[in-house]
Amino acid sequence: FSLRHFNTFGLESVASFFAEVSSVEELTEILVDPVWRQSSKFILGGGSNVLFTQNVDALVIHPAIKGIDKINEDEHSIRLKVGAGESWHDFVMHCVEHNYGGVENLSLIPGTVGAAPMQNIGAYGVEIKDVVESVEAVSISEGRKRIFSNAECEFGYRESIFKKALKNQYVVTGVTFVLNKKPVINIGYGDVQKTLAEMNVSEPTIKDVSQAVIAIRRSKLPDPAQIGNAGSFFKNPEIPLEQYNSLKNAFPDMPGYPVSETMIKVPAGWLIEQAGWKGYRQGAIGVHEKQALVLVNYGGGNGNDIRELASTIQGSVEVKYGIRLTPEVNFV
Ligand code: EPU
Repeated sequence: FSLRHFNTFGLESVASFFAEVSSVEELTEILVDPVWRQSSKFILGGGSNVLFTQNVDALVIHPAIKGIDKINEDEHSIRLKVGAGESWHDFVMHCVEHNYGGVENLSLIPGTVGAAPMQNIGAYGVEIKDVVESVEAVSISEGRKRIFSNAECEFGYRESIFKKALKNQYVVTGVTFVLNKKPVINIGYGDVQKTLAEMNVSEPTIKDVSQAVIAIRRSKLPDPAQIGNAGSFFKNPEIPLEQYNSLKNAFPDMPGYPVSETMIKVPAGWLIEQAGWKGYRQGAIGVHEKQALVLVNYGGGNGNDIRELASTIQGSVEVKYGIRLTPEVNFV
């Protein structure tokens, strides 16, 4: 079964077996089945954060569980339980239309709702950990349902327990969100403020914020339907303040944002651009011309070539700045 249309890089990879499940019951049935129980399994959501470098010798399970259901609401907030297979962006649009605040800054992120908590998706000053109440998941080995509270998800910057201690152990089946019926606008991120000003909006609604974010993303990030990519390929590194200060002496333009009293986050896109990679192209693959943090497949590219390019970039950034970039994308 070809996974080409199941990963936003558009890479060819063949799965030995493939199952799309549209309910928790269907999923559990496969997981406890004596035949399938033995085989290795790989959970694939929207495929917007994976790099296939080979075929997948496993049963690939694609959760297609749908539904946006209201759990309860009061005058301030509403609780929605959303199926893992819903498109993330469609869910954001649903919230924006109903004036439920909290996810508008996360407009246009590719992928599914079920994949979102895995790496605690984030953009423009918001992360999904800010709006997730709980995550429903099923253990792969036992087919047993478990509800993870927000704290139990151990969310961090592009991290969660599902990427760490419980890696490959659970399938997320649904996520419960708490959204604000009296939305609080978050436009701390410079680009968002600037775009709203360009739109001549002085008192933005969540719809305005969503539209500004969509405009920014469209201007910088390649649309996976046109050019294969998985968004940011690396995480933005966090380095000790002393290291940042000494680098700043050598490279006065180097941007950095404090994340604590002792740590500074440096934009990986800047490091990669300064190392000369922005717009680099090597056959079918390359580095996006408008955002150096995004590696692209122009069509017909190979996952191993992308992996090699990533590793060459890591090396060159390390030589120049002494900073080792960590991939955000999952290599398969
Ligand atoms: N920059 C450059 N050159 C580039 C790209 C970026 O110099 O080619 C510098 C600029 O100084 C710019 C700064 O990096 O001001 C930040 O760039 P940008 O606003 O594009 O954000 P980012 O740090 O590159 C992160 C997330 C994105 C998210 C944006 C907006 C990570 C790894 N990436 O990117 O998330 O959309 O912020 O919040 O944290 C993703 O995870 O896939 C993703 C796209």
